[in-house]
Amino acid sequence: MGKAPASPGEAVTLLTGHTGEPTAIQLLSDRRGSRAWKIQGPKAAVALKANNPDGDNARDKADEMAQEDDHLRRLTAAGTISPDYRVSAGTWDGGRWLAVNWIDGVPLWRALALARGPEGDRASVRPWLAGIARTWTQHLALMHAAGWAHADVQPTNTLVTGDGHAAVIDYALACGPDDGHRRVPYRGALTHTTAPETATAILSTPADTHIPAQPAADIWSLGVSLFWCWTGQRPVTYDDDLDRLEKLAVIAQGTTIPLRDVRPWPFPEFEEAITACLAPDPADRPTAKELTAAW
Ligand SMILES: Nc1ncnc2c1ncn2[C@@H]1O[C@H](COP(=O)(O)OP(=O)(O)O)[C@@H](O)[C@H]1O
Ligand SMILES: [Mg+2]
Repeated sequence: MGKAPASPGEAVTLLTGHTGEPTAIQLLSDRRGSRAWKIQGPKAAVALKANNPDGDNARDKADEMAQEDDHLRRLTAAGTISPDYRVSAGTWDGGRWLAVNWIDGVPLWRALALARGPEGDRASVRPWLAGIARTWTQHLALMHAAGWAHADVQPTNTLVTGDGHAAVIDYALACGPDDGHRRVPYRGALTHTTAPETATAILSTPADTHIPAQPAADIWSLGVSLFWCWTGQRPVTYDDDLDRLEKLAVIAQGTTIPLRDVRPWPFPEFEEAITACLAPDPADRPTAKELTAAW
């Protein structure tokens, strides 16, 4: 095994004003051309993201990092995300970096481990699960009201905090009002959570065409994420060996397996809301605002 990639020194130095002298720097993830570290200091902790300068798509990833910073600024100005979430951003000799405030939470898959098993069938788990879905939906409702779609709603981009609230992270691919001219074209995010209409658009347009994600596509992805993390199975089934475009062709059909057949224990209102999110026609899905009252 090689050495863990070092965090961009320029960023860590600049962030010291915010965090204090770092006491720990931990690599969190290293995938698809971008890396993230936790920088812990005596005053604060931040999540630092930077493009991987050695990846084959280094240029795009650096552009995405700059784009996420632009998104965070615009979403903050729109009152959609808290003004203290974005900490700082800049360049380093390998490209771009971005720092956001640390959210003390666990990714959705891990948070739902108990709910996924038979022992989740207890009175206290139902309101806890509904609370995660509700706070997640409230956040999406705020974005949607401001004319944005998150466009990468998926289990790893949702952290569940100790009070049972969902926090949304990773705004790199978000689609906002009037951003078509200056952005990295959006071509979907994680395959498993891609909405059928997005899959259709990807399959029927050239690779450099920007596909503006719509709020209804976030709702589909929310439904897939909850279905997946609660049941342990994804609602659209395909052979994992298929390539991305073949998987998207299956997704584009809009067919999902019935939640009732795979859920670990009954929770009728929750099942009904998830199933509504998975309506193949985006016009038939509830809005985030409507969903907020449904969980
Ligand atoms: N604000 C944050 N608080 C805590 N952890 C975070 C935060 N932002 C990112 N992370 C962690 O870093 C990982 C990568 O960050 P993310 O923004 O999702 O970038 P990408 O998926 O593009 O690599 C996340 O899956 C999460 O584990
Ligand atoms: Mg992510």
